[in-house]
Amino acid sequence: MSGMCSHFGLAALVLYLLTVDVLANPRSIPVQRTTRLHPNSIRYNVNNNRPIIGILSQEPSKSMASVSPESVSYIAASYVKWLEGQGARVVPIRINQPDSYYKAIFNSINGLLIPGGGASLVTSGYGRAGSILYDLSIEANNNGDFFPVWGTCLGFELLLYLSAAKKNYLTSCESYNRASTLKFLPDASTSHLYQRAPDGVLKTLSKEKSTSNFHHWCMTRENMTMSNLDKFYRPLATSTDDSGLEFVATIEAVNYPIWGVQFHPEKNVYEWGANLTSVPHSPGAVKAGLYFADFFVSQARKSQHRFSSRREEESYLIYNYSPVYTGNVSSSFLQSYFFY
Ligand SMILES: *[C@@H]1O[C@H](CO)[C@@H](O)[C@H](O)[C@H]1NC(C)=O
Ligand SMILES: *[C@@H]1O[C@H](CO)[C@@H](O)[C@H](O)[C@H]1NC(C)=O
Ligand SMILES: *[C@@H]1O[C@H](CO)[C@@H](O)[C@H](O)[C@H]1NC(C)=O
Repeated sequence: MSGMCSHFGLAALVLYLLTVDVLANPRSIPVQRTTRLHPNSIRYNVNNNRPIIGILSQEPSKSMASVSPESVSYIAASYVKWLEGQGARVVPIRINQPDSYYKAIFNSINGLLIPGGGASLVTSGYGRAGSILYDLSIEANNNGDFFPVWGTCLGFELLLYLSAAKKNYLTSCESYNRASTLKFLPDASTSHLYQRAPDGVLKTLSKEKSTSNFHHWCMTRENMTMSNLDKFYRPLATSTDDSGLEFVATIEAVNYPIWGVQFHPEKNVYEWGANLTSVPHSPGAVKAGLYFADFFVSQARKSQHRFSSRREEESYLIYNYSPVYTGNVSSSFLQSYFFY
């Protein structure tokens, strides 16, 4: 199985192939555990006012590739703008690169955003790069080097897959082009993510259909427990799919600065595709979408990683690339960056 958040027709075929792949490797390795305390904000209050966040790119779908046939990977511009709006700058992370590339980037950035999309968790360059960067972040945090990670939609699913030692516990569901509310679970009130969220944001998220869902796979609370993933992540909120299935919509790692959301907070502000009829754009929904970026960038400000020089930093930043209009071929992304 893959954690498909895709908008693409190939989904069924890819899912079939991935099911075969997973069944061929039915290894069940226990979920990673740790006794380390969650890094607290006093110890890590280093106030980095030049946060730079890496966004992982991924293989383009056929329709996306039609705009840029030579491209190896892309990043939807909505994720870039979402972070830039909170005072971060962005470095795109390429796929299919040697391990040394990921290590060098990792040591230079202050956080990692794993975006949504339609790549395979198991066989794609996105999955492989995500796995390398995830391992680096666990190692760094274990060594007291604070490094936050955020996963959105497919990125949320990739985090769950990696934390379960590359085993997939998602179940098929239908929450595609669907705005939802969040039902907060008891742990939300003591979580880093929601504890200090403005009341207005919490009210919007719980009362207004303000989260934007585009996924065909879900993590249930039952499977979080069955897989022991609930030892690694606290589920903080759930939503329901078209048939009333309750799925986990927000996770926060117990001992690491790692967060994931099954919904798309960046779409509320930045995606207006003609077919994206469900994306909430109300004032409250826009503020709620931006709250998550504010939170994540504030975490990145606690990381001290940096490039060796201003010149090196400039050579990696997203400003070396121009976004292209993709709203005519993809209903998902109005603008995208392509990498070759
Ligand atoms: C639990 O995960 C398995 C895959 O390991 C999946 O087949 C099943 O549908 C899931 N069940 C629930 C209730 O989520
Ligand atoms: C969509 O727009 C892009 C950017 O303007 C252009 O390169 C591409 O040819 C267009 N594709 C179609 C199918 O109209
Ligand atoms: C929007 O949906 C229609 C009908 O399904 C489809 O023909 C069209 O290609 C879609 N547009 C985009 C940009 O994906």
